[in-house]
Amino acid sequence: MQKIKDLVINAKLPKKEVYYLLKHVLNLNEIQLMINEELELSEIEYKTFIKLCDLRRKKVPLNYLSQECEFYSRTFKVTQDTLIPRQETEHIIDAILEVSKSNPDLINILDLGTGSGIIAITLKLENKNFNITAIDKLENTLNIAKYNADKLDAQINFFVSDWFKNIKNKFDIIVSNPPYISINDSHLKDLTYEPLEALTDYGNGFFNIKHIIEKSNQYLNKNGWLFIEHGYNQGELVRNLFKENSYYHVSTIRDFAGIERISYGKINL
Ligand SMILES: C[S@@+](CC[C@H](N)C(=O)[O-])C[C@H]1O[C@@H](n2cnc3c(N)ncnc32)[C@H](O)[C@@H]1O
Repeated sequence: MQKIKDLVINAKLPKKEVYYLLKHVLNLNEIQLMINEELELSEIEYKTFIKLCDLRRKKVPLNYLSQECEFYSRTFKVTQDTLIPRQETEHIIDAILEVSKSNPDLINILDLGTGSGIIAITLKLENKNFNITAIDKLENTLNIAKYNADKLDAQINFFVSDWFKNIKNKFDIIVSNPPYISINDSHLKDLTYEPLEALTDYGNGFFNIKHIIEKSNQYLNKNGWLFIEHGYNQGELVRNLFKENSYYHVSTIRDFAGIERISYGKINL
């Protein structure tokens, strides 16, 4: 059987990735791995590791191999039924928590296209007063969100809905990170393992955003807020749509790379 130190040398993958996979297979942290480099893997651990290395060489994302992803300092399960959460989505959490700090009566929140549930679950865990409803079009995706909510002990009202189709109530805040990549965007070809339904509207990338902005005002309480994540080149279009649909205090937040990423506004009804 092979020792950890030999696998790190022989895996034909970047060392960082080998450590990531070994941590997952052996259920050890990085320091434990480093101080146990003479440790031999059992036959089953070795076979699992080799299989994961093969998949990694075929460019399967590491998060799908470990079925885990960190978001807002918590670990969420992800599978190929869900998008792999992006770090920039953490800005949407910060923005909502900031608005709710000065408006503590905003408690009813709707998360549209919840995926692995990261937005809904994180908001609930950061503010226990929130009442959160989260929907997704896909049942399999929603099952992962439910698993994460159970594991992290967050009470969320989940159900399947094609955007607003099965929504009966009104909310103080609506939040969404919808599929917004244009089907012609060259970035899509690098994302072959993630569900297309989570990435694109199969059109110019603007269809879902437009639908959500135009419909949300029917589902927001007086003085409610809408927060939307969008593509690197959609900020101005999104702000204009907000204004055309009776929103004010319209603003955009840039992500860690300085790219316009999240726009929001308050309904003027
Ligand atoms: C970009 S992913 C976002 C997932 C998660 N909220 C996040 O931020 O990581 C978009 C999600 O919207 C869902 N979705 C796509 N079309 C939808 C529709 N018509 N109605 C409801 N959800 C939809 C997808 O299944 C996917 O989970």
